Formats: sequence, structure tokens, C-alpha cells
Amino acid sequence: MYFLAHDNSQCRHYFTGEFIFDIKYVYITENQSVGMSVRETWATRVGFILAATGSAVGLGNIWRFPFLTGESGGAAFLVVYLLLVLLVGLPVLLVEFVIGRRSNRNPIGAFDELNHSQWKFAGAVGALAGFIILSYYSVVGGWVIQYLIASFSGGYGTEAQAFFMSTASGPTTVAFHAVFMALVAGIVALGVRNGLEKAATVMVPSVIVLLVGLAIYGSTLGGASEAYQYYLYPDMSTLLSDAVSVLPAAAGQAFFTLSLGMGVMITYSSYLGEDRNLLRDSGLIVVIDTGIAILAGLVVFPFLFTQGVTPGEGGAGAIFISLAGAFNGLPAGELLGGVFFFMLLLAALSSAFSIFEVVVSFTIDTFEISRVRASVILAVIIFALGIPTALDLTYLDTYDKFANNILLILGGLLLSLFIGLSGSTPPMPATNSRKAASRAGSARSGSTPSATSCRPS
Ligand code: PHE
Repeated sequence: MYFLAHDNSQCRHYFTGEFIFDIKYVYITENQSVGMSVRETWATRVGFILAATGSAVGLGNIWRFPFLTGESGGAAFLVVYLLLVLLVGLPVLLVEFVIGRRSNRNPIGAFDELNHSQWKFAGAVGALAGFIILSYYSVVGGWVIQYLIASFSGGYGTEAQAFFMSTASGPTTVAFHAVFMALVAGIVALGVRNGLEKAATVMVPSVIVLLVGLAIYGSTLGGASEAYQYYLYPDMSTLLSDAVSVLPAAAGQAFFTLSLGMGVMITYSSYLGEDRNLLRDSGLIVVIDTGIAILAGLVVFPFLFTQGVTPGEGGAGAIFISLAGAFNGLPAGELLGGVFFFMLLLAALSSAFSIFEVVVSFTIDTFEISRVRASVILAVIIFALGIPTALDLTYLDTYDKFANNILLILGGLLLSLFIGLSGSTPPMPATNSRKAASRAGSARSGSTPSATSCRPS
């Protein structure tokens, strides 16, 4: 551990072999005892990449992407989406990583840290989006838990549509929304290393293995070749005629799937304790996330075509209704359904806790309360926000469109503008130790201004 201490006459840095914590504050209290609060960091580079990938890979890839592709013309949508991921998504991801690593703070506090407090509202837009997205994401997560249970307890009945309607809203939906939120809060309360990193390290590889298995199974189904034709061979004439609707849908999906515009990636990179090649890390995350979305299509479409279901029918419920219908009609369908919904639950959880981490990290940094307390309070607030969606499905579309198509894109745009406009005046402290020292001066009451004079030795 590398840390800074003040003994009233001189400053020292200590190195204990392994870099574990970035010191957040060093201050001298009135009775001259040394106090400090610490900010955790990721244990390994792989842990960071898996956590960021876990955030990116979620319901967006497996639930939202296939139904959007279905609604927006199949392969033509895929082409536009891929272009936007590469040309817009990748740079914005890099922007978020740079802001997070430079500031080591939450998405709102980051702008204070970088001496650009006037941009704090950009972080606030993201935090607002986080509250809204998680409130309905958790409701959909609750559906997944219900489908998972149903897979192992007698399937989805013969009426997939009726099963969905009974799952999608009502008191039981509220209860499962609470269960999902409790799981998310539990993981986040455990902390960066013990919660986020450990969970992602297990979840992300499991999701990939299960999806690959399901895609291989999908390729053996009767509807597979028709599905591949629809999904992988773009009809450019559809693209041109539908450009007006395809473009915003593809842009919103690119932001949503890469978890951009709401500060998740700022928060995650703020736990980086050492220099990384951020471009390489961003590239890797984009490749894995996009690969998984494409893979999800290779799972979902063969199942749909085999059951004679038209892709894109019926919006948010489409994948649940049509896949449950498909699993019902297949040999070993209950087992397949169980595997599918288990994988979906892991993916949903690792994204949901990344959204939750943004608001938790902001609350901890700002109010200096414990991680556990912040997690409990915020989980209750977000649970309450999600109750309308859990009782009435029409709120889902309203929340989703407002948060995704407006707030996320606005957030991403503001962050890019910030980097573009402030790029010529480097306001950032150069090292973690210097940051610790300069923050010491502005720490709580009782701090001695002389702490700001500490310099790395
Ligand atoms: N990227 C996640 C998904 O694809 C959703 C998400 C959006 C997560 C915004 C964090 C921030 O499901």
C-alpha cells in the first residue's frame, strides 16, 4: 500500500508492496490524530475489463437488441448499429474512461476534481438517467427471475402470451422487482473488489459459455437457415427507405449497450489504480459487447423462425413471449429455457449493479456515508421509482425512451464536448498522491491547511 501521512512537520509516502487503495483524504483532526478515508481499486486488469464488459453486456444485448433488430429491418439495422458502435460508441467510451481515470471520482464529483465544476450538470444528467433506467431495468430483471422459476416448475403453461401478461405487471411483479433490487444492492454493498469484481469475473464468462452453447443448439434447429438469411444478409434498399427510423434506434442502442452517457464507465475507470492502455481496454470491451449482441441474435432468431414467429412482433414483451413459446415447443424445452433465463439473469445483474454503483459511488463520495448504508437507502428509492412500471407496463416504454433516446445521448454528447472544449487546458492533477495531498486541504473541518504542502518524495 502506498500512502501519505502527516506528522505535523513532514510528509511521507509509504509503499508496502501491493497497490491496494488510492488515498482519498488525509487530514489532521483537532486532536492531531491522522484520519483518512480510502477509495478502493480493482484488483486486476482482467477484473476491470470483465466488470466493464459485465456492465455493457446485459438485457440490452439479449432482450433489447434482437427485438430492435426485428422491428427495424434485420441485417440492415445491424450494419448501421455496427457503424455507430465503432464511430461513436468507441470514442465516447474512451472519453468516459479518461475522465474517470484522471479524476478518480464519481461522475459528478469528477468535474470538481478536474477544476471544471461548471460541467457537473453533465454528470447529473447521467445520474438521473441511472435512477430511471435502473427502476425499470429491475422490473424486467424481476420478469427474468419469474421466467427462470417457471422454467423449472412446470414451464410457461401452454399460453405464452397469457403467462407474460401475468408476469409483466401486478403485485407479484412488484415483489420480484424488490427481489432483483435486493440482489443488486447486496452485490454493490460488498464493495468494488469483493462485490463488483468477483461477481463479474464469474458472470461474464458464464454468460459467454451459455450463449455459445445455445447458439450452437440454435444452429441445429429447422428455422436456422431462414433466420441467418434474415439476420446476416442486409437488404440495403430497406436501409435507405427506413433510414429515419433506423438511425435513432441504432444510436440509442449503441449508447445503451455500451453503458454510455450515464457515467458507469467514468465510475468504473475511477477505480483504476494505475496506468492502463485505455484505448486497448475500450477496444476489447467494444469487441466483446458487440460479439455478444451478435451472438444473442444467433440464439434468438433461429428459435423464433423455428416457431414461425415474425421477429419484431410486439415490442418489449416480444422476446419473452416468443422465446417461452419456442421453449415450450422444443424437446427438453424446460431445461433450455432454464439455461437461457439463468444466463439472462446473470447478464442483467452485472449491468444493473454497474448502474447502481454510479449512484452509490456519488452518495459515498458526497455524503461520506458507508457503502452499506448508501446501498440500502438508494435501493429503496429506486425500488419505489420502479413501482409504477411494475404495476402498469405502459410506463416502461415512456421511461425507456426518455432515459435512452434523450438522457444517454445528451450525457454522451456533453461528456464529449467537455473533453473537446477543455482539452487545451490540462486541469488535472498528475498523480494519485498529489491528488490526495491537494484534497487534504479541502477535507473536512479540522484539517490543517499545511497538509496541502505535501509533495511526493
Ligand atoms: N449496457 C446495459 C445492457 O446492455 C444497460 C446499461 C445501460 C447499463 C446504461 C449501464 C448503463 O443491458
